[in-house]
Amino acid sequence: MKIMVVGGGGREHAIIKKIKESPLADEIYALPGNGGIAADAVCVPVKATDLDGICSFAKENNIDFAVVAPDDPLVLGAVDRLNEIGVKCFGPRKNAAIIEGSKVFSKNLMKKYNIPTAEYEVFTDMESALEYIKTAPIPTVIKADGLALGKGVIIAQTREEAEAAVRSMMQDKVFGDSGSRIVVEEFLTGPEVSVLSFTDGKTIVPMVSSMDHKRALDGDKGLNTGGMGTVAPNPYYTDEVAKECMDKIFRPTVDAMNKENRSFSGCLYFGLMLTEKGPKVIEYNCRFGDPETQVVLPLLESDLLEIFISVADGRLADTEVNFSDGSACCVVAASDGYPGKYDTGFEITLPEGKNIYVAGAKIENGKLLTSGGRVLGVTETAPTLAEAVKKAYDTIKTVHFENMYYRKDIGKRALECK
Ligand code: AMP
Ligand code: GLY
Repeated sequence: MKIMVVGGGGREHAIIKKIKESPLADEIYALPGNGGIAADAVCVPVKATDLDGICSFAKENNIDFAVVAPDDPLVLGAVDRLNEIGVKCFGPRKNAAIIEGSKVFSKNLMKKYNIPTAEYEVFTDMESALEYIKTAPIPTVIKADGLALGKGVIIAQTREEAEAAVRSMMQDKVFGDSGSRIVVEEFLTGPEVSVLSFTDGKTIVPMVSSMDHKRALDGDKGLNTGGMGTVAPNPYYTDEVAKECMDKIFRPTVDAMNKENRSFSGCLYFGLMLTEKGPKVIEYNCRFGDPETQVVLPLLESDLLEIFISVADGRLADTEVNFSDGSACCVVAASDGYPGKYDTGFEITLPEGKNIYVAGAKIENGKLLTSGGRVLGVTETAPTLAEAVKKAYDTIKTVHFENMYYRKDIGKRALECK
């Protein structure tokens, strides 16, 4: 089969490496891919948001199956467009991708169907939002309605910060139209868990759980990033919690989307917080998480491409989805300064035969050079989490580029779980 993967980060690299193991995959194309992905797929310079370009490429090259990985093309309707020209896809259609594309939609869905989440209010006019904030419990969480490159969530520790956040979103439009509507919600506490799941709209099969490390610096300090490392499974997510999540969150979400005539097919991502009052949804994503994918897929023992095709065909119930009992740890190597200002263009040296998922690199004159904030992730698997963490840190010491920065405590919180 000729396969096309839309996207160009570490997540897409992990998807491509796994698909490559499938006997069903003959040729794999990445749109646009990156300098590191080029070792595993043919990279085509078409942006992930260029739906016309994606469709033309698929048509001209007789693509048999497409995987649309990032949020923006999904929310823009890439799957609908590809389906229209006869290309089968893994990924939700536009009317289901809204579960990530609009926080107002997802909060209202949870309220309507009694799915546990933080209490919230929606505002479309700034004065009412400012008025509400005067008496809201502090800390309070302020979220732009639409996609905001993962930056649209502000946890305000004081009333002044809350006011500034509302003004920046609704008045200064720092997230553009995404901030025309905002959600102000209750601040929750507890361990966070990411659960990615396969669903064809009928069956839902959760993947192994994981834990992201979003802050830039050790000890969960510094700015929020796209993710500095992950571990799987997440030890806070016990079998008992998993059962509760299936009964109160996962199954009800799939059913709710069906009732709304927005059947979801693809990877549905549950960002959960395990509060004292039980697990609650912090966010839904309509896609694989990054860098969660980089620890989840290396533990998958079944054929990923076969799963993707069965999801697209609505046959997930008859398909084998097995994960190993082992653990995985991914440590992200970033350019020093990220998520603020950083320099790029440095040559990268990589060890042979390792699970390295490249996110921000390009090839120039035959050399692999850094080109982004998050440059790559190193994943190791092992029978225990402690071993996986140790191996990942041993391996990352064999990766080199100038200005390389990585957190030294990925997995620490997980290892402290009793
Ligand atoms: P997001 O950009 O949606 O992934 O959110 C970023 C982070 O903000 C999440 O991973 C949580 O740590 C935090 N967060 C979001 N909503 C809440 C909430 N209601 N209470 C506490 N923390 C939250
Ligand atoms: N790692 C969080 C996300 O992909 O949204």
